[in-house]
Amino acid sequence: TKLAVFASGTGSNYDAIVEAIRTNQLDAELTILVCDNPNAKVIEKAKANGTPMFVFDPKQYVDKAMFETKIVEVLQEASVDLVILAGYMRLVGPTLLQHFEDRMINIHPSLLPAFPGLDAIGQAFDAGVKVSGVTIHFVDQGMDTGKIIAQEAVKIEENMTREALQQAIQKVEHHLYPQTIQQLISRGE
Ligand code: GRF
Repeated sequence: TKLAVFASGTGSNYDAIVEAIRTNQLDAELTILVCDNPNAKVIEKAKANGTPMFVFDPKQYVDKAMFETKIVEVLQEASVDLVILAGYMRLVGPTLLQHFEDRMINIHPSLLPAFPGLDAIGQAFDAGVKVSGVTIHFVDQGMDTGKIIAQEAVKIEENMTREALQQAIQKVEHHLYPQTIQQLISRGE
């Protein structure tokens, strides 16, 4: 199974996926990293690992349909089966969705449908909920709205700082994402 990972920032989930492949916990090939931010930290990581990359600057394109058309070409060229959004800070448009519907998944740091959108960890923290967590879902045209595939809860302890919550959530992400991708692959989805 050929994967594409899309990331815009740090890339800790990219790292977790690379590591799971390297240790044979994930039976897949990472064929390309797609990155919409030429200054993202994930680019250094991908260089070090030798992951092929398509890095672009959305400002260099007329509109989303234009850069997504280019992305589709890149993904088809790499024979990508499954698209993994891992901190891709952009709503996917119809051009990309059309080609990868039911073959594109996202990870979100809350128990959806609670706290969709930006800074889900901060939203949960400010709301004072006692449980939050991580959701992996198929991507549709909405913001964090597609069919849910997997969820794992994270308890928010008394006196927990925002930073501690973020760390706890990321720790869950780093095992839940590779594991869920492997389950999808085993099921032949
Ligand atoms: C993760 O918390 C993910 O849930 C959200 O963006 C963050 C990406 O982190 N969609 P990283 O770049 O993988 O470290």
